[in-house]
Amino acid sequence: MTVTAERSTPVLSHPNDRLRAARSGALLAVVGADTRVPLIDGTTRTYVNLDNAASAPALERVAARVNEVLPLYASVHRGAGYLSQVSTALYESSRQTIARFVGARQDDVAIITRNTTDALNLLAGCVPDGGLVLVLDLEHHANLLPWQRVAATVLPIQDTVAQTLAALTIELARVPYAMVATTGASNVTGEALPVEAVVRLAHDAGARVVVDGAQLVPHRGFSLAETGADYVAFSGHKTYAPFGAGALIGRRDWLDDAPAYLAGGGAVREVRPDRTLWTTVPARHEAGSPNVIGAIALAEACEALAALPAGALVAHEDALRTRLVEGLGAIDGVDVLHIWPDSVKPVGVVTFNVVGHDPGLVAAYLAAEHGIGVRDGRFCAHPLLARLGAPSGAVRASVGVGTESEAVERLICAVQAYITTGLTARYVVVDGCWAIADDPRPLIQVHGLLGLAAQAAACTSTSG
Ligand SMILES: Cc1ncc(COP(=O)(O)O)c(C=O)c1O
Repeated sequence: MTVTAERSTPVLSHPNDRLRAARSGALLAVVGADTRVPLIDGTTRTYVNLDNAASAPALERVAARVNEVLPLYASVHRGAGYLSQVSTALYESSRQTIARFVGARQDDVAIITRNTTDALNLLAGCVPDGGLVLVLDLEHHANLLPWQRVAATVLPIQDTVAQTLAALTIELARVPYAMVATTGASNVTGEALPVEAVVRLAHDAGARVVVDGAQLVPHRGFSLAETGADYVAFSGHKTYAPFGAGALIGRRDWLDDAPAYLAGGGAVREVRPDRTLWTTVPARHEAGSPNVIGAIALAEACEALAALPAGALVAHEDALRTRLVEGLGAIDGVDVLHIWPDSVKPVGVVTFNVVGHDPGLVAAYLAAEHGIGVRDGRFCAHPLLARLGAPSGAVRASVGVGTESEAVERLICAVQAYITTGLTARYVVVDGCWAIADDPRPLIQVHGLLGLAAQAAACTSTSG
């Protein structure tokens, strides 16, 4: 019996899904878009999620797909039952969908991982012995520390994109590198070197290229075939599928030759007490029971993004980013961080500081007094923050397919209000983080979500 994973009708009517999202100004409908949160003044407001770069909310379509397949869920690969075969087919077809989404070539392989960090650590263990890796100092720690463990040169970025590419060229001519690890988009400023240019330089010098696609793939799309990159890694929870799966996609040979990432069941052909014969990829690096639901969710998100009209994703996020940069940049006392003056098409991540103010306090104010969720800190990119003159951190706003233009306006107004009116509550530092002193809002405890929802419903509502 062959069980296929094709489905006859989509979980959600895609045009309707888009229509509903369009009415609200979002590109695609996400779960929880109408959630209201309690403010410190006793009112509630619709939550503004401007922290998509950290973790993005699930697409409604992804949540519906997960609900649809949960009754079919059973053990994969070695189960004899009918549902095991259905689940296996769903898992394997999800792998193909994910690979297709990033333009995998015929011979490429997709390995389901936990996230980007997991994928890059996996690949680090596959660099042939003695292979050196070249990386720039703008990277997220996930694309820096795994290479430091192997053997990495960390090249300082230069004042412009052009100068940085020139420095890369010189370094690649100086030392024979096995690989260049480059970000597809910085999680701090949204900027990056043009991937095609990096690939050309690296390949000319005999090096491979891995693209950290954590911030690029969900917001721009990406193609291994078109860029010529050798590997790409990305995360489901940043791609509107927060169910614990990510992926590494790329060339098989190093992956097939390397020791299994995890030693365990599923990664082997034959085990004897004294010797193990390991299998080939992808199973070689997927020991243990795989995250079937996570892979299905990620594949669904990939399909939803791939089905968007050409250019819609870029246009939506570019408009939001442009308004953020202009709006925040126009406020006296706000400094928007940029790496280079000649960057091309950064993704929708905008990091700023209110000069002279602790970014943690600004972020706490935005949350408690305006219901806006942003991120503050050094964003797992300590070397870059130091280079950008923000060694103590900054505030980051990041958009996604579920972001409405009103969210961006609310942030700009709130930052302006912070500067003109200032804090209306008393804030203290607790365990290194800014928080409201004697916050009367319910703490989230074991059953805190219900408490929070009940409290939010009981509070006087304000518009918007
Ligand atoms: C550019 C970049 N790379 C890698 C990562 C790590 O992703 P994950 O936490 O999903 O492993 C992140 C997470 O923020 C990121 O922004």
